[in-house]
Amino acid sequence: MDESIRAPARRPVYLLAAHPNLRESRVNRRMLQAASDLPGVDVNDLYTSSADYDFDVPLEQKRAEAAQLIVLLHPIQWYSMPALMKLWFDEVLSYGWAYGGGTALQGKDLWLVATTGSPAESYHPGSYNRYFFDAFLPPYEQTAALCGMRFLPPMLLHGAHRTSEEEVAAHVATFRERLATYPDWPEMADMLDCPSCDVPAIDRPNDKSASAAADESGVRRR
Ligand SMILES: Cc1cc2nc3c(=O)[nH]c(=O)nc-3n(C[C@H](O)[C@H](O)[C@H](O)COP(=O)(O)O)c2cc1C
Repeated sequence: MDESIRAPARRPVYLLAAHPNLRESRVNRRMLQAASDLPGVDVNDLYTSSADYDFDVPLEQKRAEAAQLIVLLHPIQWYSMPALMKLWFDEVLSYGWAYGGGTALQGKDLWLVATTGSPAESYHPGSYNRYFFDAFLPPYEQTAALCGMRFLPPMLLHGAHRTSEEEVAAHVATFRERLATYPDWPEMADMLDCPSCDVPAIDRPNDKSASAAADESGVRRR
C-alpha cells in the first residue's frame, strides 16, 4: 500500500452511489441528498466523481478501509448494478487486497440500498420478472463473503416510479436514520458472522508455484 496517499478521515460509513441519470431520478437523488450532510458518512457519487470511468484505486481502497460499513446505493438496472459501480468492484476489489490473501475488508459490513422500476408483485414466478427479487442477490452476497464482509439485509424500494410521495419520503427518512445510527440497528444482534471463503492457491492469478503444480498435475486453471 502506498503510504504517501493521505488516509481519509475515519468515518464509519462509505456510501457509493451510482445513478447514470441523477437529474431524472425520483428516489435515488433524494436518498443521496439525505445522506450527504451526515457527519459519519463519506459519500461518493460515482457518476459525478468518475464520469470518465477512471478511478483513483489506491484512494478508493483507503476510503473503503476507513469505513466499517460500505453502502451501495443504486437503481437496479438489468437485474444488477449500473456499469460504473460494477467497474468500481472490478478495479478496487483487487486480488491480494480484498481477497486471495488480502483482508482489507474483513469484518466490515456491506449494505445494498436499491430501487426497482418494477413493482414488488412482478418479482414472482407467476409474473413478468419470473423470479423473486432475492434471486438477483447472490452476486452481491457472495462478493461480500469472498471479501470476509457481512451482507446486511438489503433496503429495497420497488415500483419507484409509482410509489406514493408519502412512501418515498418515509423511505428516504428511514435510510437517513439508519445511516445516522449504524451500527446500532436492532437486527445486528441476530446477524451471523461472514462465512470463510478461502481461495485456494491454485485459483489465484500470478501464483507461479501454484501454476507449475497445476501444470504438473494436469489441472486446468481458468
Ligand atoms: C437501463 C435500465 C435498466 C433497468 N432495469 C431494471 C430492472 O432490471 N428491473 C427493474 O425493476 N427496473 C429496472 N429499471 C428501472 C429502474 O430501476 C428505475 O427507473 C429506478 O429504480 C428508479 O429510481 P430513480 O427514481 O432514482 O431513478 C431499469 C432502468 C434503466 C434505465
